Amino acid sequence: MSNPFVSQTPRMTIRNLDLFYGTFQALKQVNLLVQINRITALIGPSGCGKSTLLRCLNRMNDLIPGVRVTGDVLLDSQSIYGSDMDVCRLRKRVGMVFQRPNPFPLSVRDNVAFGLRVAGITRKNQLQEVVERSLRAAWLWEQLKDRLDSPALSLPMDQQQRLCVARLLAVEPEVILMDEPCSALDPISTGKIEDLMLELREQYTIVIVTHNMQQAARISDLSGCMLLGDMIEFGPTGNIFTNPADKRTQDYISGRYG
Ligand SMILES: Nc1ncnc2c1ncn2[C@@H]1O[C@H](COP(=O)(O)OP(=O)(O)OP(=O)(O)O)[C@@H](O)[C@H]1O
Ligand SMILES: [Mg+2]
Repeated sequence: MSNPFVSQTPRMTIRNLDLFYGTFQALKQVNLLVQINRITALIGPSGCGKSTLLRCLNRMNDLIPGVRVTGDVLLDSQSIYGSDMDVCRLRKRVGMVFQRPNPFPLSVRDNVAFGLRVAGITRKNQLQEVVERSLRAAWLWEQLKDRLDSPALSLPMDQQQRLCVARLLAVEPEVILMDEPCSALDPISTGKIEDLMLELREQYTIVIVTHNMQQAARISDLSGCMLLGDMIEFGPTGNIFTNPADKRTQDYISGRYG
């Protein structure tokens, strides 16, 4: 692949980001460019701030009492922490997939159509069209087209996770955040999610948190290694894994921390 740094303008720009949980500082002057149509991996030992940083990208930390954020995060060129930002709309544009699949206790169809219904769309044809398109994009259509009214919670875990991806895609996000999306899955299911991510990269911008170094190496274009709230190194994944500039990155990748 050509050098991912020179190709495009960033989709998201993180500037001098600090985050405090009460008096505890969990992110320290983090800077990061999230490139369009690339997979960016956040790696680092447990507790270093990966999930915290990910949650800053769609303001999910707003839901935690006592959190204070300084610095800025831009989506395209707009500050997401600006007073004119509509947070509901932001979370559609920057959607999130969690560690454990979290489909709603509804049918497959109603899970995928959920966001559209909330937005007031009720036309049956339109909903059906979006359900099909989203399930196809998440590689679930063939398996589930005859089971659209089955309960989502009866699906196997990997299908539940892909259903959560389909639910996001239905509201047409620009950025997909994934926090250890394969940690509850076996290796075969993990492979399916990884293949899906590689395909989604063509259309979306993806940021993934992972503890699995092989996974980061396999699928990400860029990696950021964090330690105790600092972004200690960021760059093309190939460089980070084969020739890290910072000895602490080397130590983490070779298994010397957590
Ligand atoms: N809601 C919270 N209130 C207070 N402290 C928190 C909260 N959430 C996280 N922290 C602290 O912030 C730091 C970063 O946590 P975070 O969950 O972002 O790390 P992480 O890199 O995602 O870890 P892991 O790999 O274990 O998921 C940790 O010291 C954690 O204890
Ligand atoms: Mg985490």
